[in-house]
Amino acid sequence: MAQSAVRFDQVRKNYGRQAVLQAIDFDIPAGKTFGLVGINGAGKTTLIKCLLDFCHLDGGRIEIFGTGHTDNQARARLAFLPERFMPPYFLTGRDFLGYMLALDERAAGEDQVRAMFASLDLDADALDKPVRSYSKGMTQKLGLAACLLAEPDLLILDEPMSGLDPLARARVKQLLRQMREQGRTLFFTSHALSDVEEICEHMVVLHQGRLRYSGSPQALLQEYSGDSMEQAFLNCIESGAHAQ
Ligand SMILES: Nc1ncnc2c1ncn2[C@@H]1O[C@H](COP(=O)(O)OP(=O)(O)OP(=O)(O)O)[C@@H](O)[C@H]1O
Ligand SMILES: [Mg+2]
Repeated sequence: MAQSAVRFDQVRKNYGRQAVLQAIDFDIPAGKTFGLVGINGAGKTTLIKCLLDFCHLDGGRIEIFGTGHTDNQARARLAFLPERFMPPYFLTGRDFLGYMLALDERAAGEDQVRAMFASLDLDADALDKPVRSYSKGMTQKLGLAACLLAEPDLLILDEPMSGLDPLARARVKQLLRQMREQGRTLFFTSHALSDVEEICEHMVVLHQGRLRYSGSPQALLQEYSGDSMEQAFLNCIESGAHAQ
């Protein structure tokens, strides 16, 4: 059996009286591409925050490559791009990448950085400009560049396509496919169900803090008899059914 990159075991999280996550139970096998989908407020970002130990759990357990998620070592092999990525405004793109890689005891050569910028359709001139002068999409690309240059075993991206134009989306999808071909594990949230269908071997649907579906995008279409991913997704969350 493949090693688990991430294992959620009966995870519960409350904010005050609100049960935001209830009995979340699924595994992400190493080397797989997992999409996490759900409507606004479903609990996707909260699940990622729990995974990264940014907030405490009210129940259950999470393991990252077999290590409990509260152990600092558990995060050594992952890179994360948050939903609202805001790099320090006074840094240049080059400095930001340098600092992020240094935290990981890594460095990237000029050629590697320029190649990554080109892959993301980001002008290399931006490297020496402060990030406060970047557009939203450029900032997002910088965050993606930092994550990808770190070459992590596990990549966690909260809405990576947010703010990207169609060309950039296509480029990012290509880079994510390359990550998969290199055997890395990818876990990302998206509201673009077509992207999930295109890239992911497996998807999970969260609704009202519960796991509603866990399986392949193709099986979601079949199980919820949708003509499109959107329709199947809507049928799924309206069905009230829970994951197998
Ligand atoms: N720090 C917090 N304090 C209180 N409630 C919170 C907090 N963070 C999230 N919530 C609540 O938890 C629920 C899930 O929020 P979360 O951000 O996880 O949703 P999401 O699925 O990521 O949504 P979106 O698609 O809009 O990003 C929401 O009802 C939200 O209001
Ligand atoms: Mg979110």
